[in-house]
Amino acid sequence: MPLVTTTEMFKKAYEGGYAIGAFNVNNMEIVQGITEACAETRSPVILQVSKGARAYANHTYLTKLVEAAVIENPEIPIALHLDHGPDFETCKSCIDGGFTSVMIDGSSLPFEENVKLAKRVVEYAHDHGVVVEAELGTLAGIEDEVNVSAEDSSYTRPEEVEEFVTRTGCDSLAIAIGTSHGAYKFKPGTKPQLRFDILKEVEKRLPGFPIVLHGSSSVPQEYVEMINAFGGAMPGAIGVPEDQLREAARMAVCKINIDSDLRLAMTGTIRKYFAEHPDHFDPRQYLKPARANIKELVKHKLIDVLGCNGKA
Ligand code: G3H
Ligand code: 13P
Ligand code: ZN
Repeated sequence: MPLVTTTEMFKKAYEGGYAIGAFNVNNMEIVQGITEACAETRSPVILQVSKGARAYANHTYLTKLVEAAVIENPEIPIALHLDHGPDFETCKSCIDGGFTSVMIDGSSLPFEENVKLAKRVVEYAHDHGVVVEAELGTLAGIEDEVNVSAEDSSYTRPEEVEEFVTRTGCDSLAIAIGTSHGAYKFKPGTKPQLRFDILKEVEKRLPGFPIVLHGSSSVPQEYVEMINAFGGAMPGAIGVPEDQLREAARMAVCKINIDSDLRLAMTGTIRKYFAEHPDHFDPRQYLKPARANIKELVKHKLIDVLGCNGKA
């Protein structure tokens, strides 16, 4: 099937109490690892591309890689999404360039400016058959070059969501309930806990409306230890407990964004490979196990965290 929007995926996910995985793609091995896992588990999937990914790999290369994945895996629904669109122009470029979904991230703007920007993107996107994710509330962590400190992050205010969704016409809403970007989400020794009270309140005010969670990597300690054992230094890297993500997926959360976990799997595997094969220099030799481990990790997420296996 051709690329799809997220409309049907989210409707089924909401009703079925599961979530769709949104995985960031930057190169061929990542696209292949993710989509092979989805095909084997018959899972719908969102492949997302950030501004940084477009700067690194180029829009055409990325869309053509995703097009190849669509051809190779005709039985699974795949959406191509712009992650953290920073402005109208970037969203327009992705809408014109074949994406089926875009995020406009005006979360750092004052409410009225966020509404104005999101509404402008929604109007253009909807005219072109593309859906829009917007965001209210700010996450801590690093997105592209923007580093938001924990002090500057703020939870979504449930009393604002109805007005925001009604005025912008957005198709899904990313909210801040304690997740954050990157590999250092919680202080070592503290108990990671998402704010399910905020999620419940949002769900009550927007019944049936798809909610998105960013910053939802669980930072598998297996890969943190692998990185540290083979020359890396990532002390205190901690993610969101997977049981809390599964709980969110049973609620109104229909899209869960995972990027850092894939990066950890790739980096850990390559570090280990180099340490064990110091004389190897063919990129295919070390990228092959990295791709295989991304695939295994994504399968685990689809089955044990998102619950979207068998839903394609
Ligand atoms: O939220 C950000 C994603 O992890 C993408 O990261 O901007 O480094 O491509 P990036
Ligand atoms: P992580 O850094 O937790 O993987 O979050 C990814 C994300 O939210 C992409 O938009
Ligand atoms: Zn994000």
